[in-house]
Amino acid sequence: MRGDGESASVGAMREKAILVTGANGEIGHGLIRRLATAGREKIVALDLAALDPHLSELCDDVVQGSILDRALLDRLVSRYDFATIFHLAAMLSTRAEFTPVAAHEVNVQGTLNLLQLAADQTELAGRRAKFLFPSSIAVYGLPPGEKAGSGRIHEKSWNLPTTMYGCNKAYCEHLGRYYAEHYKQLGAGRDLSGVDFRALRFPGLISAQTIPSGGTSDFLPEMVHTVARGRSFECFVREDTRIPFMAMPDAIQALLLLEQVDERELSWRVYNVTSFNPSAGEFGELVRGRWPGSEIRFVPDEKRQAIVDRWPADVNDDAARADWSWRPEYDLVGALDEYLVPGIDPARSPMPEQGR
Ligand code: NAD
Ligand code: SER
Repeated sequence: MRGDGESASVGAMREKAILVTGANGEIGHGLIRRLATAGREKIVALDLAALDPHLSELCDDVVQGSILDRALLDRLVSRYDFATIFHLAAMLSTRAEFTPVAAHEVNVQGTLNLLQLAADQTELAGRRAKFLFPSSIAVYGLPPGEKAGSGRIHEKSWNLPTTMYGCNKAYCEHLGRYYAEHYKQLGAGRDLSGVDFRALRFPGLISAQTIPSGGTSDFLPEMVHTVARGRSFECFVREDTRIPFMAMPDAIQALLLLEQVDERELSWRVYNVTSFNPSAGEFGELVRGRWPGSEIRFVPDEKRQAIVDRWPADVNDDAARADWSWRPEYDLVGALDEYLVPGIDPARSPMPEQGR
């Protein structure tokens, strides 16, 4: 498509911008602030929910609507030239288990719609649109009894998800690879088609600014936010439960680092990233040390526990470290003392109901 007169004129009429879907979510909050501070292209925010007014003022266009609304997506393509798309919108793992078909619609059909939007952008602009996709440790599924001795799980091992959300993420990783490497493989002139797809398998994320809901890794962020509000906390997993986590600023940094790296440096398209992996009990002890007198009890929900028991205790992020110099800024103690304790403002955000 490069050099095509009609494409060039369409591109010229459209405004250059970055698209962020799921903009009102936890990652969206951190990402939009970072993009706005960096003073990059215009930011177009899309979310089903109304955008937090603090974020709206940082965006150039705020669109309230669904990633399942193709007419809405077509209107965005006709107006904007998106060189980068951060596709964050999703239904998270606990909520997805209650409504698996709806989760599939949002997580798979919604992602397909955005990948097609990105492929259309590539065709119109004459350069491959970048597509950043947050995948998850939920793509892993360790057999019962295997978790304790399994070490740091490599990207290519145990890709056997046991949740609808994990299946959705795993399939979308494949869809992304297809759009990047095999899109319309039987068509003519494939040299500049498809999408520059890049994905991160995030661990559980902990933000000081927002509180999660609907995820299965929510037990640590819920713990710290509940205790910081002076309330007692019932943890829905056992004390010895261990999965990887990361502070939100590191998650944003990982997304931006992966976005910036030259495509030729990527040895594959889907990377583990991680930072620390305390057990729920160990994290509880550290939290009690920061908020003395806080009450934390462990009352496992056997069904949610079973989901977490299939997720790895740790993941191997050597490839991200080697290919694009990934390093987390916050270790466990740093995340608490330098980020969460000073950053949590109980007056700012209300706690959602525990356990959903
Ligand atoms: P979140 O639940 O806080 O935000 C998701 C956002 O998507 C919400 O604002 C929601 O309104 C929006 N959304 C849902 N359905 C939509 C639709 N049909 N159309 C438009 N918007 C829709 O989630 P988050 O923590 O910000 O996660 C963002 C992404 O990162 C998701 O893809 C999630 O799977 C992934 N991820 C998150 C974590 C984590 O611990 N937070 C870990 C791994 C991966
Ligand atoms: N934090 C997410 C969830 O629990 C994992 O991707 O759903």
